[in-house]
Formats: sequence, structure tokens, C-alpha cells
Amino acid sequence: MSGRIFSGVQPTGALHLGNYLGAIRHWVHLQQDYEAIYCVVDQHAITLPQDPNELRGAIREVAAALIACGIDPDRSILFNQSTVPAHAQLAWVLMCQTPIGWLNRMTQFKEKAGKQRDNASAGLYTYPVLMSADILAYNATHVPVGEDQKQHLELARDTAGAFNRQFGVEFFVLPEPMILGEATRVMSLRDGTKKMSKSDTSDYSRINLTDDADTIAQKIRKAKSDPIEGMSYDVAGRPEASNLLTIYAALADLPRSQVEAEFASANFSAFKGRLADLCVEKLSPITTEMRRLLADPAEIDRILDRGAEKADAIAGPILRQVYDIVGFRQA
Ligand code: TYM
Repeated sequence: MSGRIFSGVQPTGALHLGNYLGAIRHWVHLQQDYEAIYCVVDQHAITLPQDPNELRGAIREVAAALIACGIDPDRSILFNQSTVPAHAQLAWVLMCQTPIGWLNRMTQFKEKAGKQRDNASAGLYTYPVLMSADILAYNATHVPVGEDQKQHLELARDTAGAFNRQFGVEFFVLPEPMILGEATRVMSLRDGTKKMSKSDTSDYSRINLTDDADTIAQKIRKAKSDPIEGMSYDVAGRPEASNLLTIYAALADLPRSQVEAEFASANFSAFKGRLADLCVEKLSPITTEMRRLLADPAEIDRILDRGAEKADAIAGPILRQVYDIVGFRQA
């Protein structure tokens, strides 16, 4: 084994192509060489208001999606965050090591809180510290994520370093980000300058892993295009064409330059037809498997419970050592 991986995904709606190409597809491959821990981060989800019933459903749905994508719960650890108390417990200790100035720099908080900064929850503000705790509770060596999580990972490294210095220990490993593949930042189908995201109000902006073949084809047909002849990669000048070429390359597992050469003289609509076929070919087995798994929610619960037990067996002792380093008396 080359190290220990930790990564997480929020259960705030269906997973989309960005989650799949930027992160989850890599999680599947990494299971072979790493001890892997994958977490459905329900505690992160409630940093914004969630309907309890929808949240309950989304946790199972995201777990099913991960398994359908190829996460093997017998090989890797798969669980939901709130079932392992060490995450929240360690977050408190780390919050006491994190200067407010570091949190003020986090761009995701600024984006999510918007103009309502004073009304945003303290949870949304301290979100990155809980994320540090997720990783450090396992002393994970590597964290595979999409580009948008890079700043949070730098904070995790800084927090680990701050703890080690404060207590004069070499306890926490500084986790390495792994930002892999061609599609590290998949953009919206409606606007090639905006990230594909679960929170976009337009469902046409993203392809969900729950979409059927017709919906996928329709979303790609309606994706924003430009009037330039032939397909070419030029992020500044042709953000939509560049995004669709990147998606194609990632799905086909080909270098982007090869895809660009293949479609250099294709018009936008012909290219979209080919992309839609590829997308359906790659995603429909996942959707079918997900539906099969969701027909038996009790089995998903059993998988998550087993995962929680295994996760707790790693994180529990690490938390106790942290409490000891900090000077807490323990029963
Ligand atoms: P989340 O739930 O937003 O996304 C899960 C993973 O998908 C990646 N991703 C994307 N990659 C490429 N293009 C996109 N448009 C795109 N959208 C999302 C994300 O980078 C992520 O890897 N804070 C995290 C969850 C988290 C976590 C952690 C991750 C909580 N604790 C500890 C790693 C380690 C988040 O909100 O991801």
C-alpha cells in the first residue's frame, strides 16, 4: 500500500458529472494501491439548510452512487460522517488552532455566504476546519479532489502544521492533495465560465448520475455552443467548446489533444451527438446499478454501518492521542 487516502462528498443532491470526472472516478482506481476511506459528509451538508427527509434520502443515494461507480465497500471504507464522532470532536480541537484570518481567506465561504455574510451560519464559516478534521482524524497521506477543493486542502496542511508546532510534536501528517486527470474542473453546460455544481438552479447546467439516456442527450443538445467552425480548445475564447472537449477526453480516457484533433473539422452539433452517445455509454451502467442498489436501502445502511465501525477503529485511537497531547484528562 502506498499510503492512506481520505476523501468526501456532500449529500446535497444527486452527484453530477463534475463529481464523477473530477473525483469519484479516481477514487475507484486509487482503491488498488491505497488504503482508502470515503465519506458521505452529512455534517458538512447542514452548513446550509437541508430538509431532514431529503438529507436522509440523499445520504443513501450518494452511497449507492459511489458503490455503483465502483467503490468496493469490502476493500475500502465507506460511511457517513455523523456516525463517527471523532470528526466533530477533532474539529473542535483544530478550531482552537486555526486563526480566524485563515478562514477569512477562504473563497468558497465568500461565494456561498454571498452578501448575507452576517446571516451565514458559523458552521459554514468553520466548514474548512471540519474538513481538516475529516482528513487528520485518519492521518491520511493523500486526498483526491477536484480543483475547487485545493484551497481547503492547503488549510488542512496549515492546520496540521500549526498543531504540530503548538505542541512540539510530529503527530499529524501533512496531507498531499491529488488533483488528477483532464477534468479537474468541469464547467456548467449553460455557461462555460461557471463550475458545474449541485447548487446551480438550472438542471440543464449539469448531467446527474441519475439522469436517463434521453435526459443526458437532451442536456448535451441544449448545451451552450458558439458559432465558430470546427471544435478547438481555447478556454478564454471558447469556454463551452473547451469544456465539452475536456468532458469527452475524460470520459473516453484519451488525451485532450487527441480529441481536439479528431473533432477539428466537426461542427458543434455533430460533436454533441458523439459526446451524448459516449456519455450515455459510460453513465447508463452506473445509473442502472444505482437503481438496483436503492431498491434495498437496508443493505446500504448495513454497508454504511460496517464502514463506520472500521472508520471509528482508526479515528478513535487517533483522537485519544490528540486529547492526550492537548492535556485533556480522559476517563
Ligand atoms: P463536493 O461534495 O462539492 O464534491 C465532491 C468532489 O467532487 C469534486 N467536484 C468537481 N470536480 C470537477 N469539476 C466540478 N465541477 C466539480 N464539482 C465538484 C470536488 O472537488 C470534490 O472532490 N468539501 C468537499 C467535501 C469534503 C472533503 C472532505 C473532501 C468534506 N471533507 C475531506 C476531501 C477531504 C465538498 O464539498 O465536495
